[in-house]
Parts: sequence; structure tokens; C-alpha cells
Amino acid sequence: ALIGKGNYRHFMMKEIAEQPTVIGDTLQAFMNPLERRIQLPNLPIDLAKISRLTIVACGTAHLAGFVAKYWLESIARLPVDLDVASEFRYRQAPMDPNGAMLVISQSGETADTLAALRYAKSLGQKVISVLNVPESTIGRESDLVLHTLAGPEIGVASTKAFSTQLVVLACLALATARARGAIDAAREAALSAALTEVPARVAEILNHDAHLKEIALKVAEARDVLFLGRGTSYPIALEGALKLKEISYIHAEGYAAGEMKHGPIALIDENVPVIVVAPTDELFDKTFSNLQEVMARGGRVVFLSDADGVRKLGNQAMAVVELPKVDPFVAPILYTIPVQLLAYHAAIAKGTDVDQPRNLAKSVTVE
Ligand code: AGP
Repeated sequence: ALIGKGNYRHFMMKEIAEQPTVIGDTLQAFMNPLERRIQLPNLPIDLAKISRLTIVACGTAHLAGFVAKYWLESIARLPVDLDVASEFRYRQAPMDPNGAMLVISQSGETADTLAALRYAKSLGQKVISVLNVPESTIGRESDLVLHTLAGPEIGVASTKAFSTQLVVLACLALATARARGAIDAAREAALSAALTEVPARVAEILNHDAHLKEIALKVAEARDVLFLGRGTSYPIALEGALKLKEISYIHAEGYAAGEMKHGPIALIDENVPVIVVAPTDELFDKTFSNLQEVMARGGRVVFLSDADGVRKLGNQAMAVVELPKVDPFVAPILYTIPVQLLAYHAAIAKGTDVDQPRNLAKSVTVE
């Protein structure tokens, strides 16, 4: 069927707005409604016994894998190696015989990701893939496909594919944690409940659109933009920077907040907006002190946090976006939405071709 933009100016905005629905659909596919807990299909590997998971992907899908690394290591106690496919495939990496590979791809056709999968299979690894197009080359060559139910994604900049990848990966982390005895029933129930609330929270965040557009107009004037975060907010900072670069052509960098003092702080002045991804989690105070270092050097902060964080900051930032207070486990899914909207509106302000940015292709089948 022909897919239209509906009432939206761009596919990207339509796809951003679809997220409450497609996140809900994806979650439902992995949630046992009676037991209200995550249930994965039969896996080709025993999550309790594997020694290591190697996650490989490209671009935005790689950043979903980056969030998954934090989840799988901290919640499921499973060691994770993560790399971009174009590096992994040429590195002749030895792979643990008791390990497995996870590849993540919207299209299922990315050449480097496919080559990484084939390398792992040549070493006898089982491969699970997280795909939006299961009837793809990567889908056919995987031992198991976990399907993101994002529906067709037309905008070159990935939005709903990314957030649904995070949902599938969160489910995988919970199932792995249970299999490995790394989580007790009460904590598992709490994290599952937090996931169940995500579609409604995403819908709330979409109501901040007009405010984020105002902020984006200021961001669009900058030559360089910095995104900072710690823990699972670090990959979201990287994703915010990638999104801004690819559709607005503004130079942006994502940085681990604690690493800023080792170099990038030299860039800070009143011309550099610094977007701080800061849910109140166990690392919030650390991120907050990095934010103060930025402000002390005249940096113009855009502060993404919840009511507790906003209260602590007061009115010192250039802009504040107050997001719902949630369990930190699901924060990376929610904080994705404002960075998408900032990039979208900055691109509109710049007058770029949002759905078809220059030099980019939706599916990268060249190496
Ligand atoms: C996302 O906004 C990018 N256009 C790009 O990084 C993309 O995520 C990457 O090319 C991977 O594509 P895939 O998910 O189809 O494998």
C-alpha cells in the first residue's frame, strides 16, 4: 500500500507522532497479558548460560545497542561487547564459543551489519536480530528475529525504529535478567510496569512540541552543539547529536558528561548550546556538576530533566524541558523524543530537506 504523510508536513514528524502507538504494539508483542511480564519467543540460545553477547549495528541502530549494553550489563549481569559493524567485520575479533551475537537493523539490509552477521556465523555463533523488516536478508540469515512493530519508516532519519528497538531490547534485558537469576520478582514487576507506562508517557512528551520548537529556533542559530549524558543517557546524547547532524547539518557532538573535562570543555562559550540529558537517576548529581561547569564557562544549557531535576536547577538554564518522572530504566526511551523533536524543528528552521537529507540513503547497502 502507498504510505502517505497524513496531515503531517514530513514523514519524520508523522513517524515521531506514531511512537506511542508503535511502542505500545511492540511491547504488547513481548508481554504476556495474564502474567504481566515479558515473554520472548523460543530463543536459539540459553540466556542463562551464554558468557557474552556481541552487539553489532550501524548508526542509530548501534546507539540502540549502546543503551542495551548498559541494560544487559547492569540489570542482567551479562557482559556485552558493542561495536559498529564497519569496524567489527574487519577486526577478526575472536568470539567466545559460549557467546552469541545480536544485530540490530531497521532495514535488515545494511551491508556492513550483514557482513558482521556472516562473520559471526562462520565462527559458529548463534545470531539473534532485532529488525523492523523481518523479511530481509539479515532476517533470513538470523537464527531468530525479534520484530520491532514500528511499521514502514520512510524518513531517512530513524525515529520510531529506534524507540521500538529500545523497547525490544528492554524486554530482552528483562528476560535475560530473569533467566540468569539477576533480578528478583518484585524488581522485575516494577520494571515491567514502568515499561507498560511508556506509551502514555511518550504521548505526554509529544505535547511539549511547541516548546521544543521554540528551543530549536535558538539551537538552529548555532554552528556547533554539544549533547551530554551519563549512563543510558549517554547513548541518547549521541543519538541527539546524530539526529541533529543528519537533518539540520549543524555540527553536533554527543559526549559522556564525565569525559567533557578531558577535552570538549575547551569548546564551551556563549555560542555553543549544550543539551543535557539528565533524568534524576543515580548519576544525576554527577551530570549536574558537569552542567554547572558548563554554565560557569558561559555555555547555554538546554536542560532535559524531570520535576526533581528542574527544581534543583532553578532558572539558570537557557531552556528547561520538564519530562515526566519515571523509573530510570525507561528514561532513555522517553528522552529520545525531545532530542528527535529538537532535531526536526532545527532542520525546519534551517530549511533543509528533512525526509531526504543530502548525501544520505535510507538503507546503506554499500560498504
Ligand atoms: C539513522 O537516522 C540513520 N539514517 C542511520 O544511522 C541508520 O540508523 C543506519 O544506516 C542503520 O540502518 P539500519 O538500521 O537499516 O541497519
